[in-house]
Amino acid sequence: MEVDQKPKWKALSLLPPRAAWMLDNKLYRILTGSGYKDTELVEWSGVHEGQEVLELGPAAGYFTPALSKKVGENGKIYSIDVQAEMIAKLQDKVERLGLKNVSPLVAGGETLPLADDSVDSICAFYVLEEVVDLESVVSEFHRVLRPGGNVTVTQVAYDFKQYQKDAMRHIFPTGGFELLEESDGRWTYKARWRRTSTN
Ligand SMILES: C[S@@+](CC[C@H](N)C(=O)[O-])C[C@H]1O[C@@H](n2cnc3c(N)ncnc32)[C@H](O)[C@@H]1O
Repeated sequence: MEVDQKPKWKALSLLPPRAAWMLDNKLYRILTGSGYKDTELVEWSGVHEGQEVLELGPAAGYFTPALSKKVGENGKIYSIDVQAEMIAKLQDKVERLGLKNVSPLVAGGETLPLADDSVDSICAFYVLEEVVDLESVVSEFHRVLRPGGNVTVTQVAYDFKQYQKDAMRHIFPTGGFELLEESDGRWTYKARWRRTSTN
């Protein structure tokens, strides 16, 4: 879809850490439309064995174990959340499950603590609608992603407004990404973008 004018973007408030437990509850996820089976979504993202992956906004880490298993012992997951309390909860989970290839880090997507061209894939599952400055985050995605790498985005469909989709469909291409696949379902919106340009 072509969007000529820069559409508006308005972020929702951050999920409070006291509500993080809900996201680890499968029934809650089904009822709210964020009920993708973790392994199926990871499969759809194209993440594979040996990759280095940025997981933006993991909260307490519902998807982190599936990502960790997928990349295996030769891969690495950088799970980066802006809220320190979320990362503390994730750290507990990582230790409890013995996920040796996961590094939980506190940072905003607008200033990622990762080197240029350092990751193969990015997973932004149910997080971008909370991002205040989406252009900066997409610019950081472009910087840290190796050329040809993918960003997978998911949102709760009924909560994800048309103007936010329009903004995303404008900001990703402007930031050097092409759309590989998009699914605008009743319950969940999902899309995969590929880094194209090198600038
Ligand atoms: C709705 S939760 C989703 C958590 C997880 N991905 C899931 O699906 O269960 C969104 C998470 O993104 C984090 N977040 C929001 N804006 C962020 C930003 N600009 N940079 C990094 N993390 C952010 C929030 O702190 C929160 O933990």
